[in-house]
Amino acid sequence: MANQEDIFKNIISHSKEYGFIFQSSEIYDGLSAVYDYGQMGAELKKNLREYWWKAMVQMHENIVGIDAAIFMHPTTWKASGHVDAFNDPLIDNKDSKKRYRADVLIEEHVSKIEDKINKEVEKAAKRFENFDAAMYKSTNARVLEYQAQIDSINKRFKDALEANNLEEVRQIIIDCEIVCPISGTKNWTEVRQFNLMFSTSMGAVTEDSNIIYLRPETAQGIFVNFLNVQKTGRMKIPFGIAQTGKAFRNEIVARQFIFRMREFEQMEMQFFVRPGTEMEWYNYWKETRMKWHKSLGFGDENYRYHDHLKLAHYANAACDIEFSFPFGFKELEGIHSRTDFDLKAHEQHSGKKLQYFDPEINQSYVPYVVETSVGLDRLFLATLAKAYVEEKLEDGTTRVALNLPAFLAPIKVAVLPLLKKDGLPEKAREIIDLLKYDHATTFDEKDTIGKRYRRQDAIGTPFCITVDHQSLEDNTVTIRYRDTMQQERVTIDSLAKIIDDKVSFKKALQALK
Ligand code: GAP
Repeated sequence: MANQEDIFKNIISHSKEYGFIFQSSEIYDGLSAVYDYGQMGAELKKNLREYWWKAMVQMHENIVGIDAAIFMHPTTWKASGHVDAFNDPLIDNKDSKKRYRADVLIEEHVSKIEDKINKEVEKAAKRFENFDAAMYKSTNARVLEYQAQIDSINKRFKDALEANNLEEVRQIIIDCEIVCPISGTKNWTEVRQFNLMFSTSMGAVTEDSNIIYLRPETAQGIFVNFLNVQKTGRMKIPFGIAQTGKAFRNEIVARQFIFRMREFEQMEMQFFVRPGTEMEWYNYWKETRMKWHKSLGFGDENYRYHDHLKLAHYANAACDIEFSFPFGFKELEGIHSRTDFDLKAHEQHSGKKLQYFDPEINQSYVPYVVETSVGLDRLFLATLAKAYVEEKLEDGTTRVALNLPAFLAPIKVAVLPLLKKDGLPEKAREIIDLLKYDHATTFDEKDTIGKRYRRQDAIGTPFCITVDHQSLEDNTVTIRYRDTMQQERVTIDSLAKIIDDKVSFKKALQALK
């Protein structure tokens, strides 16, 4: 059986072969950690975005959507803290000349110790009947020792970051005997902070005062529009503002395909609440967003929460929704209770009041904010990773299919004339004309029908309609279902109903209630 690494490689080549994802500027050997979405990828990405938008905006009468510009006044990023604190701690290995994120080196070291604990627990589970993992973890000496190591490293690291003590961060790396994976040595430089924002200049003159940033998150476009939307939309607290759009980060360790990119897309929502009610809403959004992810049907066991112990200075609670990617459980979405930090900071820097008059308590205040923030590209990768299947069929052949929920599929219906003659292509085009106003359709007359079915399976098309000679006589066709590969004969008139039902977002959205 192929291991996760091989499957991941297959997914990457499948993405390219079928027009989902290409490396950016590939003819010039590409640009690191930047990717383009091809003809199939753009459709799938659009459908994922639409599902999020419908669930967040269309399904909530107190959430509205905006589309703010990527460029923002530079003071925005001073107020948000990004100019001073949106940094990654970097360290170089002097022998390999490779650069690493110091925090990632330490986190990877900790996760290796966690693996040791899991192995001990697995071994014990095989040895003892009525095994109780929690009890074992709290009593076994070796496990306790590993756990103590983890706690001590985490504490030192947290304290070092809080004190901005980069020398101590380096010392942790030395004390943990972390080696460079390339050179295998511990010959490390000092740790330096590196700001992740991309900058450019506005206007013809390149002066410091003209420097503007490419936004590193979409959230600030929402904060600076808080009052505009609240007033023009006559919004009453609690209410939310959502948006999707590009964000840019000069990531040092950019790898794992579209997991960590330098240009990526976020889908964020800021929910403005009365101070004191934020934990209630934080828990509400934590659950609601988890339910949304699980509704995609990729298996509940592939999701888990990771509650943050180290909180950012602006947050009073935060967690990630993690997903089981082919390279392990990693962050897919962040839910943060951001207090009134951002609005207050924008008040101070702009000199404008960003307050809400709450008629229920007859008071004005700066609202608290609960944020949900998911990366569209990560969601795309999660979707591909779980939809991609290589299955052995009874006839000994292998079928590669994308088992996408029908509403996400890039193409909903492929119409295939059995032959390129006898009026079958013309009849097929009539069917396309019937369906194309509501659905993404495609026409394919090349190769055997079997090969054409396989091509559609590979891009996740849920329905293939085959037009044969009988179709000309009685207006019936065969419809083939991707998941079961079953075929049935139906009238052309009934096609719209069969397909509409299965590909609409409606059922998935209704199940979220
Ligand atoms: N406004 C909050 C915020 O930006 P974040 O945890 O930095 O929080 C939110 O980012 C989400 O954006 C992440 O959970 C992830 O899905 C996505 N994301 C962040 N950096 C990314 C990158 N370099 N490439 C792809 N997606 C990224």
